[in-house]
Amino acid sequence: MPGINFAEGGQSSTGSIIRWARILFGGDASYKELDAEAAAIPPGSDGLVALETFQGSRTPVTDPLARGALMGLTLSHTRAHIWRALMEAVCFGTRACVEALGLAGHECDEIIIAGGATRSDLWLQMHADISGKPIVVCENADAPALGCAILASVGVGIHDSVQEAVRAMVRTERRVEPNPETVETYSNLYKSVYSKVAQAARPIAHALSEFRNQQAATAVTESVVLAVRGGAATGSSPIVSPSLLGCDWSIVKEEVHRCIQVGADRFHVDIFDGVFLDSPNALTFGPQMVDAIRRSCDSAASLGPNGGNATLDLHVCVDRPARYILPMARAGANRFIFQWEAMGSLDSAMGVAQQVVNAGMKCGISLNPETSVNEIYPLLQAGLLDVVDLLAVEPGFGGQMFQRIVLEKIRTLKHWREKAALTFDIMVDGGVNDATVGEITRAGADILVSGSFLFMHPKGIQGGMEALKGTRAIQRSKLTTQSK
Ligand code: DX5
Ligand code: ZN
Repeated sequence: MPGINFAEGGQSSTGSIIRWARILFGGDASYKELDAEAAAIPPGSDGLVALETFQGSRTPVTDPLARGALMGLTLSHTRAHIWRALMEAVCFGTRACVEALGLAGHECDEIIIAGGATRSDLWLQMHADISGKPIVVCENADAPALGCAILASVGVGIHDSVQEAVRAMVRTERRVEPNPETVETYSNLYKSVYSKVAQAARPIAHALSEFRNQQAATAVTESVVLAVRGGAATGSSPIVSPSLLGCDWSIVKEEVHRCIQVGADRFHVDIFDGVFLDSPNALTFGPQMVDAIRRSCDSAASLGPNGGNATLDLHVCVDRPARYILPMARAGANRFIFQWEAMGSLDSAMGVAQQVVNAGMKCGISLNPETSVNEIYPLLQAGLLDVVDLLAVEPGFGGQMFQRIVLEKIRTLKHWREKAALTFDIMVDGGVNDATVGEITRAGADILVSGSFLFMHPKGIQGGMEALKGTRAIQRSKLTTQSK
């Protein structure tokens, strides 16, 4: 739209923090109940001030290492104080954005608010009182959806221009006016406390990040030493994770046992719902099946050269994956690798990852071949991911051609991991066979998921395994186990 410009200021974490706190408080109280408790506490949360920069700061200071904080805690503070302080912190962050835009010459006289915050009257009033600006709530507060509908209405000719569509479709529902007394209280608090805490915390957050990097670097060195001692994956011999999508489903238990006998101790279980992937033929396994696979593994634990229990990695490519977290954890899954493209936003992915970790599973994320790894960098930085599953085929079916686009993504992830001393594994899923394995391992993958190649190998699963790991590697891992 020629002649129209857009100045943007942004906050990295807002609603995600509120959701995080609710989960942390046990998840029993509803947002409304927590709001009601917090509404009984005066502005300023009885001396508690929070920083909302849980995932770094964007505006006014761009600082990926910024972190959250709670300052002023006493024994008299309750969860309601923390709830209120976090809400206030998000509003203080908004005020900082508004001020930064003002300094750049973009004064604003009202704030149009959209999204989840519009469902909390307490938070709306806080936004008005802390920014000092009236808050406008529209009839339809789902701005992205409304924006799409506006463009579509122009596209199909219902309206002649975007401006006309906006006039017809964006309707104000109400305005929340700032309360002058509270505005002053908050303004003092913003200047004398919030902005000072934000500034003072910056070098501390950087020191913390440095500390974590050193710890991670030590952990990486230790695991390399262990791997060398144990003769496990050192880069030359990757871990092979059989994908049960490719096995004979009428004898799953036997297939699992055969894999364990030739050294597999990690299985890949594709959970596809036929909704997100939108094909009745893509429907695979539910929690009951995962439970059955768990029992198949457990009953074969002693058969394997590696001994012990096998790990179940679920590749969850479904609509609304969060619904599956607890049932799958109960069924005995160890890792919950959810599909990035099924997430609406980074915030929702963060929320799911946090829930996975809270449920006691390790968390991974799976990316379609064409999705850039850049999209998930904040998740890696947040330390929530144990594995990144790079799909080298479109999700849904085995036996497809390997897409080489994935090789560059492996190299990028490997580079990030080394540079930022992060700890996660790089998994490649789909199209892994004797023709592609060389390139994949040279690029730096740690875990190879293989379905059709492994289960349909003319020399059986052992033949497939040897082709992927190299015969010597299999013998070496047997020897190591004996010497243990
Ligand atoms: C693909 C699945 C894979 C699949 C790989 O949609 O995510 O796990 O089983 O199968 P192959 O190895 O046959 O490509
Ligand atoms: Zn998979």
